[in-house]
Amino acid sequence: MHKHTHLPSAFLLAVVAASVFAGSRMTAQQPGARLAAQNRPIVVRDTGDSVAVYSEEQATEGQAVYKKSCAECHELDEFTNSDFKGKWVGRPLFELFEQIRTTMPDGDPGTLPREEYGATVAYILKLNGLPAGTTRLATDSVALSAITFKLPASAP
Ligand code: HEC
Repeated sequence: MHKHTHLPSAFLLAVVAASVFAGSRMTAQQPGARLAAQNRPIVVRDTGDSVAVYSEEQATEGQAVYKKSCAECHELDEFTNSDFKGKWVGRPLFELFEQIRTTMPDGDPGTLPREEYGATVAYILKLNGLPAGTTRLATDSVALSAITFKLPASAP
């Protein structure tokens, strides 16, 4: 499980940390899955090796939150268009989360449970073509700050 010499050096520390914390239960997962399990993943573009930072279930919850609390004002493409990407891609995921949590729903900011804000962020990642994994996106500031919102190599 230590075949990580091909990884970018920025990953090495995290991979080592993941190995330490994950212990012996780790199976033959992708390096990204290991990082996600550690909640300190980075969504990578350049290697084409996007790390899964949210779960499918969480994105589905986010879709429900969107329908309930966001759809009256937002079309889905507002979360994937070039304006949106230009503004948010390359920044820590925490900034997007905080922006939504502290300003949305417009006129009633901060009224949703934190988990629901996290789910909307997971849904937004899914809409942008990022892969789902087995670990939910944590909603604490430390974990979210460690994740950079980048697009998969296949994204336009
Ligand atoms: C009552 C209408 C309304 C609702 C409901 C609403 N929004 Fe908004 N949202 C807005 C408006 C208006 C803006 C633009 C505010 C601005 O730019 O100052 C905005 C801006 C945003 C932005 C920033 C977009 C950008 O590129 O900067 C995001 C992200 C966002 N909303 C997400 C959400 C999510 C997620 C929900 C549901 C949890 C939601 N909004 C619910 C009206 C709404």
